[in-house]
Amino acid sequence: MSLLIKNGRIITAADDYVADIFIEGERIAVIGKELSIPAGETIDAEGMLVMPGGIDPHVHLDMPFMGTFSSDNYETGTRAALHGGTTMVIDFILQKQGAPLKAALEEWRGRSNGNCLCDYSFHMAVTDFNDSTRQEIKTMIEQEGITSFKTFMAYKGALMIDDRQMTALMQEVKKQGGMVTVHATNGDMIDYLVAKHKAEGKLSPLYHYLSQPEVTEAEASGRFADIANYTGCPGYIVHMTCEGALHAVRNATRRNQHVFVETCIQYLLLDASLYEQDFDGAKWVMSPPLRQQKDQDTLWAGINQGLVNVVATDHCPFKWEQKLMGKDDFSRIPNGHPAIEHRMELLYSEGVHKGRITLNKYVEVASTNPAKIFGMFPRKGTIAVNSDADIIILDPNAQHTITAEGHHMNVDYSAYEGWELTGKIKTVLLRGKVAINNGECPLEKGYGQFIKRHKLSGKI
Ligand code: URP
Ligand code: ZN
Ligand code: ZN
Ligand code: ZN
Repeated sequence: MSLLIKNGRIITAADDYVADIFIEGERIAVIGKELSIPAGETIDAEGMLVMPGGIDPHVHLDMPFMGTFSSDNYETGTRAALHGGTTMVIDFILQKQGAPLKAALEEWRGRSNGNCLCDYSFHMAVTDFNDSTRQEIKTMIEQEGITSFKTFMAYKGALMIDDRQMTALMQEVKKQGGMVTVHATNGDMIDYLVAKHKAEGKLSPLYHYLSQPEVTEAEASGRFADIANYTGCPGYIVHMTCEGALHAVRNATRRNQHVFVETCIQYLLLDASLYEQDFDGAKWVMSPPLRQQKDQDTLWAGINQGLVNVVATDHCPFKWEQKLMGKDDFSRIPNGHPAIEHRMELLYSEGVHKGRITLNKYVEVASTNPAKIFGMFPRKGTIAVNSDADIIILDPNAQHTITAEGHHMNVDYSAYEGWELTGKIKTVLLRGKVAINNGECPLEKGYGQFIKRHKLSGKI
């Protein structure tokens, strides 16, 4: 199987040039000017941007959460990802308190094995760190290729761990060559504010937002950075939303510590005014909540300053009927929103097309940095000889509109309904195979592979 991409403008995190790419089997074999190697298929990419496939390191597929399951399973979610130019995702396994990590891994394999269309990996969420969990960290890293461990400083009574467990976990993960990632908000403060609002009869989605003020995230981000610094463990803060939290990380750089920061597309583009309507605001009930314009500005600046390393989605969709579980109580609205399909095109249109970030930065935060930070580089995250042929071809001038009717995610509304975008992904290759061609996905479920990741240094 071979494929030749002619005359595209190739963009990586570092490069920008016009050339041809010859793909043999699953990998890039040759890159050069005016190649005349006979190929099974030739794609003319003149006038198009040819970039590495997107990597979304924060998605929740078929995940049991808040009394229900996220509505995209591994098949629908990874197909939607491909439609939007994402060729690899990292999903989350949740340890059950009192049970081993291995049991959770088996459970998640049961739902995902044979069902994915794009490539995937897992983060292991540690919700109960004890002596027997400690023994499993090394096995996860060395045998399973799962090298990042997710923690929650919030969701008190469900997923949250305390600082005692965080410190002990970080010491072990550091020793074994992994990384700790975190949902950094102060779970005790949030727990108190939720209870207070409910006692006062304040039950609409707006109070979800008002129960998680910026300080809850700024405080926890600083505390996480401090514990990471003390233990020497590489750290990564997921879904950062606000100025206060980014300041905590900026402060940590003054002692030459780098904590990696991920934001998500929604925090760059949407704001908390969406909660000032009746129950419709439930579409954007997620944790942390959407913030203010000043926070969006800070995050865009943070990307350009190299403080924000990754733009992900935290894709965790629920159908409207599931959102209605919280009709009379915001604390029962399943948290999360659908975005896996739109990250690459939204970030291109709002970021590159509107002049907020460069093309190289686009590739860096949407593909290269996730690959480097999480141990898949240079197999994934770039266009280079011997890398997997995970490639997107984007038409920079094509315009299109986001609608629930037109998307491929298994959810009956869009959080971006009516958004008009410039720049459309026309073709997607995954390990040398055409995965998307003009809106059609010829792949069957099961093509997506579990990717074992290497040990992590905390440096990129
Ligand atoms: O609201 C969210 N973010 N739902 C998914 C779980 C999490 O905290 O990432
Ligand atoms: Zn699209
Ligand atoms: Zn979270
Ligand atoms: Zn999440």
